[in-house]
Amino acid sequence: MEQISNKKLVLKQFAALIEDEPNWIANLSNASAFLNELLDDINWAGFYLWDEKDKELILGPFQGKVACIRIGYGQGVCGTAFEKKETMVIPDVNEFPGHIVCDAASQSEIVVPLIKDDKAVGVLDIDAPIKNRFSTADKEFLEAFVGILMNN
Ligand code: SME
Repeated sequence: MEQISNKKLVLKQFAALIEDEPNWIANLSNASAFLNELLDDINWAGFYLWDEKDKELILGPFQGKVACIRIGYGQGVCGTAFEKKETMVIPDVNEFPGHIVCDAASQSEIVVPLIKDDKAVGVLDIDAPIKNRFSTADKEFLEAFVGILMNN
């Protein structure tokens, strides 16, 4: 994400975009559109949200090709990040056992858990059509981005 020259400014812009709006789905929708416009070399950006009744992650607002709708607890990269409550950076999805293929173009992936009051409520998932897309700087930026979203 070296191409983002002013990360602090971008985070401020995102905070301003959502600050007056309490609706969660509206803000997730704009968050996925914001990231999709901001980030180069990605083919999917969006959210999976935990459904307490079905005990599964269910597809939320996103940008990209149609995707798998339900992901079980601990399944795939998304379910693993959700279970561990930790960001997962996958340089090559073919090397991740249990990776769930939604778009065959995806080569690398980052998943950041959405944590509210110490409880995971969903994940932000971003896929890239190239290997090794997501650096430590990207991880830090996206964690800060999710922090703004969760503290809005
Ligand atoms: N690859 C993800 C599934 C979601 S799609 O990439 C949009 C996973 O393994 O959890």
